[in-house]
Amino acid sequence: MPDKPKYYLTTPIYYTNGLPHIGHTYSTIVCDTIRRYKRMRGCDVVMTTGTDEHGVNVERSAKKAGVPESEFVAKMAAEWRALWDELGVQGDEFIRTTDLKHAHTVQWLFKQCRDNGFVYPGHYTGQYCIYDNAYVDVKPGENCPDCGRPTETVTEANFYFKLSAFQKPLLDWYAKHPDFIQPEARRNEVLSFVEGGLRDLSITRTSIRWGIPVPGEEPHVFYVWFDALTAYLSAVGGPQYEKTGFWPADVHLVGKEIIRFHAVYWPAFLMAAGLPLPKQIWAHGWLLMDSAKMSKSLGNVVRPRPIVHVLGMDALRYYLLRETVFGQDGNFSYDALVQRYNSDLANGLGNLASRTAAMIEKNSGGKIPKPAAFQPQDITLATKAQAAIGEVLEQYDNLGFSLALEQIWSLIAATDKYLTTEHPWSLGESDADQQRRATILWTTAEVLRMVTALTHPVLPESTAKVWSLLGQPGQPGSIALDDLSWGQLAPGTPLGKSQALFPRIEKAEAIERMESMENEAQKQPSPVTAPATPSAPAAGGATIAAAPAAAEKIGIEDFAKVEMRVGQIKTAERIVGADKLLKLTVDIGTEIRQICAGIAQFYEPEKLIGRKVAVVVNLAPRKLRGVESNGMIVAASVGPEGRPVLAGFPDEDVEIGARLK
Ligand code: MSP
Repeated sequence: MPDKPKYYLTTPIYYTNGLPHIGHTYSTIVCDTIRRYKRMRGCDVVMTTGTDEHGVNVERSAKKAGVPESEFVAKMAAEWRALWDELGVQGDEFIRTTDLKHAHTVQWLFKQCRDNGFVYPGHYTGQYCIYDNAYVDVKPGENCPDCGRPTETVTEANFYFKLSAFQKPLLDWYAKHPDFIQPEARRNEVLSFVEGGLRDLSITRTSIRWGIPVPGEEPHVFYVWFDALTAYLSAVGGPQYEKTGFWPADVHLVGKEIIRFHAVYWPAFLMAAGLPLPKQIWAHGWLLMDSAKMSKSLGNVVRPRPIVHVLGMDALRYYLLRETVFGQDGNFSYDALVQRYNSDLANGLGNLASRTAAMIEKNSGGKIPKPAAFQPQDITLATKAQAAIGEVLEQYDNLGFSLALEQIWSLIAATDKYLTTEHPWSLGESDADQQRRATILWTTAEVLRMVTALTHPVLPESTAKVWSLLGQPGQPGSIALDDLSWGQLAPGTPLGKSQALFPRIEKAEAIERMESMENEAQKQPSPVTAPATPSAPAAGGATIAAAPAAAEKIGIEDFAKVEMRVGQIKTAERIVGADKLLKLTVDIGTEIRQICAGIAQFYEPEKLIGRKVAVVVNLAPRKLRGVESNGMIVAASVGPEGRPVLAGFPDEDVEIGARLK
């Protein structure tokens, strides 16, 4: 038997100074889907994901948490890993940039580049964005053009990489490999960047301690991107990459903001070291929330866990891949998510599976019936299903996930229609009717089997349930998609156990549950906090609680960042479909603000009019149940159920707009 073709793909390796939101989840789920798909196409696949753990950001976060960097990153990496497990992501390699094998690979790659004459020592002064880990082209005092945060002036001794020497080789490479950068718009962007001229690149730092040392050149440590990009190679053998046979990578999947690092710097490093280049860099778009890129600094992130908890991991996977055209930006909305869940998963696939199984159970003793003569309408459906195989595989090959799913769901819709027109439930008990019913039910079950196979890369958990419901052996992941064709469903196969697939859910309730879990999660402390001060025995032998560690307290300047003012409620109304929320307009002295407050179960709207309340006025605006909320009303949370009690000013007639200090 010939060897399986090898296929290697990677997600970006994620920074450990934060936790994953659904933007990161998107990249990882896309890769996991490709990985599953390629396996079903007979490839020997390795997928790498991991964590990018060095740099000044981590140094600072660890200091803030009062723990050593190594402990900080170990805990954060464990969090990332645990989440991917919960999402059914089957990473084969989880590379951490603090792994020893990675450090060796980075040092080895540097030596190759240096031995080949592409590295020289120098000094650099520039504006540095610590959040993006990059020098940026702005003047001192100006903010980072990418993320808008303050930059710092950094001067340091370093080693330069002769990026300027690679302008022509890179342009030649792009010309010879027109598919190297995808999609087209990103390719054009990279091309014009390289055509504009390349400046040499500082690849080591002396201003940072937390990094991989440059051997014999201490205190130099590697610049995070030279370090991070090399992780793709360390994961599959590093200097011994030839032994594993997985280098060069087939595709590096990245978000569009890091295309330059992947399509310019990385191939240049590899060329300098005389190593093979990856075959393709694919840059996807961003998930937006309220039209802005979801990001921790903007405070508009949505975390995956509440969604998985309420709707299941397959619902999140399906939504992300169906709703966004791969390569373009896509807006996230809870509303669209639940809508998709109910219409496509509960009423679509889930309903088709359960009604097919129920009819087979009732009419054919729980065994796949034997079809009799096929009618033209059966053949029409069979032809559509057979044609769908080729169309769907082609879409998957082009990473056209939304189109692939559209094709599959059009087959589901055609099958629903077929059942409605053929109405097997109203056929009688004559031989002819029984045979006709058997043919219809077999045809329906056969479509369901094909749909299950084709959807498996996106919906691993639920397709495994449908597969066993149809009494099929093994796991759908081991189906060879190249052998899939109409007519393979064996009559007489006993159905398996029926398991809940996608129970229908009331939209308002689902959204409320997800949003409240999300709000709770935002309040949780970071998983890495300072170790508590040991508790001291008090007089009488009792113990007193440890005082909070210094790192947990905030200075007055931190408190001053929260701007609270006296506001007066002008109007208050309920929000349809959100029984906990009230929509308020509040006069804060300088303007009237619209604010949503989760107090509807405890306060009558009409009794709130004219009431003076404490308002946080400088909170970033956000949408709650689709309604813009621009500020927050302060309330005590009382009792185990957290009953809100509004903070107020009963003794004094305070002026509207007065600041709380
Ligand atoms: N550590 C670098 C990558 C080094 S790769 C050698 C990094 N890390 S990150 O934690 O910031 O992750 C960035 C990646 O997360 C993006 O490239 C993208 O894949 C994903 N996303 C983060 N926010 C996103 C959205 N709002 N939408 C879609 N994906 C986004 O950069």
